[in-house]
Amino acid sequence: MYSSKLKMERKRIVSGMRTTGRLHLGNLVSTMENWLRFQEEDECFFEIADLHALTDRTDYSEIKDFVINMGIDWLALGIDPHKSTIFVQSNMPEHMELYTLFSMITPVSWLERCPVYKDKTNGNNAIQSLSLGLLSYPVLQAADIAIYKATHVPVGIDQAPHVELTREIIRRFNSFFGEVFSEPQTIMTKTPKLLGTDGRKMSKSYGNVILPSDSIDFLEEKITRMITDPQKIRKNDLGHPDICSVYTLHNFYNSNKEEVADECGKGLRGCVDCKKQAAKEVYNHYSEYREKRKFYTERIGEVYEILNEGTKKARTIARQTLDEVMECMKINY
Ligand code: TRP
Ligand code: SF4
Repeated sequence: MYSSKLKMERKRIVSGMRTTGRLHLGNLVSTMENWLRFQEEDECFFEIADLHALTDRTDYSEIKDFVINMGIDWLALGIDPHKSTIFVQSNMPEHMELYTLFSMITPVSWLERCPVYKDKTNGNNAIQSLSLGLLSYPVLQAADIAIYKATHVPVGIDQAPHVELTREIIRRFNSFFGEVFSEPQTIMTKTPKLLGTDGRKMSKSYGNVILPSDSIDFLEEKITRMITDPQKIRKNDLGHPDICSVYTLHNFYNSNKEEVADECGKGLRGCVDCKKQAAKEVYNHYSEYREKRKFYTERIGEVYEILNEGTKKARTIARQTLDEVMECMKINY
C-alpha cells in the first residue's frame, strides 16, 4: 500500500538549461544540485535548451560545442540516463509544433511584460534588432513544459516568470479547448548564492566565473583575486564571513565551514590561507566530476547515443500530448 501511495505522489519534473557556455559553479550550485536530488525520487525530463540559446545571437558557431559539453557535464555531474530522460531541444519537432499552436492563443501583451524581454528592450542590455524568437521565448518554454504535462518545474528566480506565463497559457488553452493540461508548480529551492571573482553574482556575462574543471592553480589564482571583508587586512583582524565572497565558497564546499567562520571572526585565520583552502575544497569536490568528464569526453559517441535514447523516450510522450492537442483544436486530419 505504502509503495503505491508513493508512486502516485511521484512528481513529473521538467527543467532545462540554455546552452550559452560552459557550466560554472553558480549554475551547478543553483540548479544541478537540485536536479540530482529530484532524479532519485521523481520522473525527470531535462532539456538541453539550444533553441533558447539562439534567441539573442546570430553567431551560432559555438552552439554545437556547448550542447555536447552540456551533455558531458550533466553525465559527469551525476545525471543518470537510467533515472532521468535527457535530450536536446532542437531534436524535438513536437515542441516546435506545440509552440506554434500555443502562439495562436498567447496575447503579445503577455510576452511584452516578461522581464527577460523587457531587459533586452530597455536599459543597458538592450539589443538592436530584436527577434520574434526572443519575444516568443516563453511560449517555447511553455511548450517544453506542457508537452510532458509537468507537475513541477524547478528553476531559478529569473525563470519563474516564464513558468507563471506557462500556467497562464495552459489556463487559456484549457478554457478554450478542454482540460488537456494541468498547471505545473514552480519549485524555487533556496540555495546558497555563490559570488563571482569580482564579488557580484557569478554569471558568464560578468566574466567572473569559476569552472568545475579549473585546475588547482587556476582556482587559486582566481580565488586569490576575490574580495574578502575589506576590514580584514591582517590575520589577527576580526573578520566578517557574511560579507566575504570567499566564504560563499566555504559555505557550500567546505564541511567545516563553521570552523572557518569562527576562526575568521576571532582573528585566528588569515585570508591568504583561507583562500588557498577554499580553492582546495572546490578542487576536491569536483575530483570525481573531472574523472567522469574525461571518461565521457573520450566517448563522445556514447554521449550522443544517450541523448538520442532520451530523445526517443521523450518524443513518444510528446507525440501523445500533441495528438491530443490537435484533436481538441480540430486540426487532426
Ligand atoms: N529558459 C531556461 C533557461 O534559460 C531553460 C529552459 C528551457 C527551461 N525550457 C525549459 C527551464 C523548461 C525549465 C523548463 O535556463
Ligand atoms: Fe573571508 Fe576567509 Fe578572509 Fe574571513 S579569513 S574574510 S572568510 S577569506
